[in-house]
Amino acid sequence: MSCLAEADIDTVLGVENDSFPAPWGRASFKGELAEKTSRSLVIKKRQHEKPARVIAYLCFRLIEDEMHIMNLAVDPACRRRGVATFLLRYGIGLAKRYGVKRAFLEVRTSNDAAMKLYSKMGFCEAGRRRRYYTETQEDAVVMINDMTGRDC
Ligand SMILES: CC(C)(COP(=O)(O)OP(=O)(O)OC[C@H]1O[C@@H](n2cnc3c(N)ncnc32)[C@H](O)[C@@H]1OP(=O)(O)O)[C@@H](O)C(=O)NCCC(=O)NCCS
Repeated sequence: MSCLAEADIDTVLGVENDSFPAPWGRASFKGELAEKTSRSLVIKKRQHEKPARVIAYLCFRLIEDEMHIMNLAVDPACRRRGVATFLLRYGIGLAKRYGVKRAFLEVRTSNDAAMKLYSKMGFCEAGRRRRYYTETQEDAVVMINDMTGRDC
């Protein structure tokens, strides 16, 4: 586990493009690096005689006592091995140490895999945002994880 560095962005973009219908561009990741409230964690895989490449990342912002999850993806070749679970657990643990009490995120209504992952991690549906994803006009499900121990 390490923090995202500018030199990682090329391999991050490869995973991003394989993961989303409207992927973030380089400027979005650079924006997270420049943003004071943002933390971006990456997991890298060693490669024989080549620099390690990023296989998963989690970007989130810490705003007062809230964690806002901005982006999460795992290389398609490395999915269903608990990588996202590990990354989220680590990120939430870090956020708690900063005094975070609730975590928020938006997820596409069609993204069953992510919703299952977040439910397993203690997130509950808190509402919907109509046509939140403008490029596909898809609704977002807003999910919240209340870390104070309150149930959904
Ligand atoms: C969603 C995503 C991050 C999950 O990463 P992952 O490393 O494969 O997730 P994990 O292995 O930690 O899976 C944890 C649980 O999530 C659920 N899950 C993950 N992928 C799933 C899938 N394809 N179908 C159904 N459930 C799935 C399962 O309950 C899984 O537990 P199990 O494997 O014991 O059944 C990955 O599929 C991805 O990068 N998708 C594209 C980007 C994306 O949608 N990001 C989230 C944006 S909100």
